[in-house]
Amino acid sequence: MDQDPTQAQETLLAEVLDRFATTPDPRLRQLLLALIRHLHEFVRESRPTWQEWEAAMAFCARAAAVTGPGRNEFIALSDAVGLTMQVLASSQPKPPGATIPTLIGPFHLANAPWFPNGADIAGAAQGERLHVSGRVLDIAGEPVAGAILSVWHSDERGLYDVQDDPAAKGLWARGRLRSTQDGGFAFWTVMPAAYPAPMDAALGDLIGSTTRMHWRPAHLHVAIEAPENQTAETELEGLTTHVFVRGSPYLDQDFAFGVRPGLVADFTLQPPGIAPDGRVMAEPYRTLTFDFVLTRKRQAGSPFP
Ligand SMILES: [Fe+2]
Repeated sequence: MDQDPTQAQETLLAEVLDRFATTPDPRLRQLLLALIRHLHEFVRESRPTWQEWEAAMAFCARAAAVTGPGRNEFIALSDAVGLTMQVLASSQPKPPGATIPTLIGPFHLANAPWFPNGADIAGAAQGERLHVSGRVLDIAGEPVAGAILSVWHSDERGLYDVQDDPAAKGLWARGRLRSTQDGGFAFWTVMPAAYPAPMDAALGDLIGSTTRMHWRPAHLHVAIEAPENQTAETELEGLTTHVFVRGSPYLDQDFAFGVRPGLVADFTLQPPGIAPDGRVMAEPYRTLTFDFVLTRKRQAGSPFP
């Protein structure tokens, strides 16, 4: 006698789980078994047809086709459905007062040029001048000296250097600097602008046929590496985050769900005159002051550092 369909589905799932239950690495085993259970549940709940499943596989193939050095369409898709922010929220929970981590996005480069504090990182980038300053602090409010800040952002057109002409213009609006003894940092650059997510591949297929929201509000990307030479008890967790421009278009509809209240800041318009570092400015410019608050690495059993 034929097995009833529901029983057959249960049997199939149990068989699959059994086979992967022998995965030697315990964490990989945990992740795989949970993923398989949830994916089977998704299929049983939504009952995709074979044509729909083939369309899903073709969609993945389109994402893979444009993925390579400098671009990962799967990260963009993860951003677009909020999974990136969900992973960060569950893997890096933060206590009140700590800076919230956000997605790294597709344009980070590990080898950004070094600058001394106070330098101008704009290079060939065009836009309204912006002076950025602040401090890197720990959750107790103590300055963090020697932290490495990596900054990258778009220009007034909403483009990044890697989308422009790096061979001719070099990298711009991108750099690394170290926090000073009092945790301070400062640099000049230009104002970033809102920009659309790349819509020429799988992400475009997804957004174009669903939410039609594919913009990111104007922002700076900042990644902070804690200083070396820390003890295990006091080791600080690195942070990758954004600072969003208050008043930017699309603040309430970021396609990647990265906007958090504590990450929206005033990029204050200043009249021509003497800038915070003594530079004489002939044109109006902007200033941003922002402190980044790091937490200790998570101890076992503790929800917060
Ligand atoms: Fe960005």
